[in-house]
Amino acid sequence: MDIRSRFNPDQLDPMEVASIDELRAHQLERLQWSVNHAYNNVPMYKQRFDQLGLHPDDIKTLDDLAKLPFTTKSDLRDNYPFGMFATPVNQLVRLHASSGTTGKPTVVGYTQNDIDNWANIVARSIRAAGGRKGDILHNAYGYGLFTGGLGAHYGAERLGCTVIPMSGGQTEKQVRLIQDFQPDIIMVTPSYMLNLLDEMEKQGIDPLDLKLRLGIFGAEPWTQELRRSVEERAGIRAMDIYGLSEIMGPGVAMECAESQDGPTVWEDHFYPEIVDPNTGEVLPDGEMGELVFTSLSKEALPMIRYRTRDLTRLLPGTARRMRRIDKITGRSDDMMIIRGVNVFPTQIEEEVIKVNHFSESYEIHLYRKGNMDGMEVHVELRPECADFDEQKINDAINQLRHHVKSSVGISINVKLREIGSIARSEGKAKHVYDERASA
Ligand code: DLL
Repeated sequence: MDIRSRFNPDQLDPMEVASIDELRAHQLERLQWSVNHAYNNVPMYKQRFDQLGLHPDDIKTLDDLAKLPFTTKSDLRDNYPFGMFATPVNQLVRLHASSGTTGKPTVVGYTQNDIDNWANIVARSIRAAGGRKGDILHNAYGYGLFTGGLGAHYGAERLGCTVIPMSGGQTEKQVRLIQDFQPDIIMVTPSYMLNLLDEMEKQGIDPLDLKLRLGIFGAEPWTQELRRSVEERAGIRAMDIYGLSEIMGPGVAMECAESQDGPTVWEDHFYPEIVDPNTGEVLPDGEMGELVFTSLSKEALPMIRYRTRDLTRLLPGTARRMRRIDKITGRSDDMMIIRGVNVFPTQIEEEVIKVNHFSESYEIHLYRKGNMDGMEVHVELRPECADFDEQKINDAINQLRHHVKSSVGISINVKLREIGSIARSEGKAKHVYDERASA
């Protein structure tokens, strides 16, 4: 099957309806191509395979993939900027980069075929989420080096949507344009969506009066509680889009409208595995671990067994035959250890939103007192609870402390902040402030 077959907005891709046998045969053929491509064109891969006495011909089945070594973010950093590209830079049509909080950015590149495939896959994703040709789509993912803006943009155009290339920021103006242009779909990080909803409230706009019917949210972890809250406040369906620049950008996996039960991995382009984050051992479907991807169609930057550091599990297909991922719990690097208990920010988010009187904005501050680590969670009241008396406020705070203690297993302090004082996100939210080193 030609992986570059043209995208038809009116029907599912042949691979979306292929049988499991067809899918696995396609994957094996593509995997063999991709491993050869990486071996023959990326010195790092050739060297690693040779050292282990491996050759691309050793890949005879999909299970043979487990023999191959992993690729990590530091491999990209060590080969900065272009050392992992399998194509000469003058044959690339685009570069993107992720800023990275420390050290060198990670640079990724695309050939024209890669860009075409990406547009097709994002178009497929938007359609799977419930978007259609002719919809107006407000794109508030950041344009620029981040893959979110342009990735969503080209896919939406490919599907036949009318795109508003808004990017992140200028929140007041965004809201005005949403009211004036009445888009059907919004693509944005879930945390920036909250910011937009707060701004609508400020401007006296009732989101339920808008035409918006669908939000395609991703680029950061977000919980089912946040989904319910956003769906209710905005009167839309909120769908989860997953992706990462090293593997392509947005659209590696997308939740389908029929089932809304976790993103379907577009397995015809990206082969997923779950491994034990400590031992690297491949885990069976259904078990929690670290998500690993092997690219099956990428020309410029083939990736063999890339360790995403995202923790989730693989689930059987529902709306499509391809497998799904469960909601990402967090990245292994986001895990906090508080008095011996492993905690992810998403677990705190769940509990904050469950207390109806608090808004969805929160901060997690980690501190050290003596030898003990502690967590203080900052929250705000919802605007409609602004007139709460001390008793009601204390009840809400105690409710949160109690919930976190019983479901996460740690004791926390809670600090109530002025309404609107917790920094609102314009892209990926920063939730954790680690003050332990400076203490
Ligand atoms: O965030 C690509 C993207 C843009 C995805 C727009 C979806 C929408 P990076 O900046 O390379 O790429 O960050 C990738 O973000 O490894 C996850 O940790 C996290 N992430 C992305 N999507 C989700 C999601 C883009 N739906 C990293 N749920 C990934 C949870 C997500 N985490």
